[in-house]
This record gives sequence, C-alpha cells and structure tokens, in this order.
Amino acid sequence: MPSTIARSSSSKVARTASTPRMPMSSTPHCSISSARTQRARRSAPSSQAVTAQHPDRRVALAELIEHRQSGREYSAAPIGRAALERIVHCAQGRSRSGKRNAPSAHGLYPLRLFAIVHRLQGSAQGLYALDMPDALLGAWRKAIAPEALRATSLADDAWLEHAAVVLVVAADYEAANAHFFDQQPDGRRGERYVHIEAGAVLQNMHLATLAEGLGGVIVAGFDARRLADLLALPAPLQPVALFCVGARAEASAGR
Ligand SMILES: Cc1cc2nc3c(=O)[nH]c(=O)nc-3n(C[C@H](O)[C@H](O)[C@H](O)COP(=O)(O)O)c2cc1C
Repeated sequence: MPSTIARSSSSKVARTASTPRMPMSSTPHCSISSARTQRARRSAPSSQAVTAQHPDRRVALAELIEHRQSGREYSAAPIGRAALERIVHCAQGRSRSGKRNAPSAHGLYPLRLFAIVHRLQGSAQGLYALDMPDALLGAWRKAIAPEALRATSLADDAWLEHAAVVLVVAADYEAANAHFFDQQPDGRRGERYVHIEAGAVLQNMHLATLAEGLGGVIVAGFDARRLADLLALPAPLQPVALFCVGARAEASAGR
C-alpha cells in the first residue's frame, strides 16, 4: 500500500473550490460554492431548478470528489486554526440535525479525534484533544517529536513528519464490540462498524481539506501499539487511522 502509491497532490480542486469559498458564518458548515457553479446557477433553465433540489451544491460536491487525490508534499507554511477546525467540523462535527456530520451505527460514536500539531498558526507543537462535536482544538496533552511520529510508520512515510498537522482517528473498540455483541456470535461486530464509521469520517476530512485548498492523505500503515504508546492514548482507545494535512508544496500545487 504505502510503497506503491503515486506521490502527488490535488490542485484543481483548490482552484475551483477553495478560491471562491463562501464566507464562513459563525456556525461552520460544509457547503462549497464556486464562481463556476454560481454562474451555472444564474444561467440554469428553470426546469432544471425545479427538478434538482440543490443543483449548485450537487455540482460543487461532484467536482470536489472527482478531483480528490492524496497529497503528500507539503510546504513549510503553517495552516490556520480556523481552517483546521472547519475540516474537523466537516469530519465529524455537529450536523444541522443535531447529530454528527458522519454517520455512526446506533448513534454510538465510538471514535475520538486528536490533532498532532507541527505547524498551526498561534498554537504550540504537540498533541491536542479535539473537542467534539464542537470541532474545537481542545487541551494540549503532550509534546510529540515529528520524527518519532514518522518512526511509527510501517513504510517510513515522510509526510507524517512533514505535514503541518496530523489528525488522529482513535476508537473505543471495546465499547463498540460490547454494544453490538448480540449481532454476531464472535462478538466483533462493533469493530467492523468502527472501521466503516472511520472511513466516512476520513473521507469527509479529505474532501474538506481539499476544499480549504490544502493537501491531505490517510495513513493507516503504522505500528498501532507503538503509536498508541507515543500518543499515550487513554485506555481503551486505539488508533485507527491518521490523516496528514498541510499547505501543498510549490511543485505539487501546479499539478
Ligand atoms: C485504508 C487506507 C489506508 C491508507 N494508508 C496509507 C498509508 O499508510 N500511507 C500512505 O501514504 N497512503 C495511504 N493511503 C492512501 C492510498 O495510498 C491512496 O488513497 C491510493 O494510493 C490512491 O490514491 P489517491 O488517494 O490519490 O486516489 C491509505 C488509504 C486508505 C483508504
């Protein structure tokens, strides 16, 4: 997996989705609008407007998805705290229904999110809790040397060291397995649900990252025990996946 990947990052999305981004209200949301979709909306025949409930949003989302790719080359620039919190909000923050922006079996929400900060404007380096569902950078927990994080990789993924921020998706597998124990004789149904939920959260994270004009990549090829020790995750939390975020390097920004 990590050794055969194409090392590139997205730029088209940044141009179409992030430049004309809608101003954020005090309540963050995940809608993305572009000049192109605004023009399309103005010129759309009225029949289309009747048949499509949210035509502009649908085009913007499809464009974002079609341009999605993993980005592993970052500049040395820090990222903004507001951008990070918008990404986390889209990942699993409070939805307009009052639940979360990613689904969870039985609404159990066994995931916990953290941020390993290497370069975030106005914030010291280190591991932070993320306060969910408010999607705010929470308490500083401990210092993490970027090279120590990279050393947990099974494939020496340099982007773990070079990313501006590495988001951590951790899970309480015990709570999930206990809750769904009756659904399957081996008692591990919860584990499966954790992974499905984490996938939804990570995809939201990735799309939101691209919408901010940043690059990002999922990293799951790590030594889980070593990573849990490094992060001193409170038991019974275990790391499920990491997501590297950063400003795209000059060379990859043009592609
Ligand atoms: C479950 C999962 C685990 C992944 N783990 C890693 C990883 O450890 N290191 C890495 O560089 N990329 C990792 N990736 C990213 C894939 O390598 C990448 O999605 C794939 O090469 C396809 O490229 P694209 O995302 O640009 O379409 C992972 C992706 C998924 C879905």
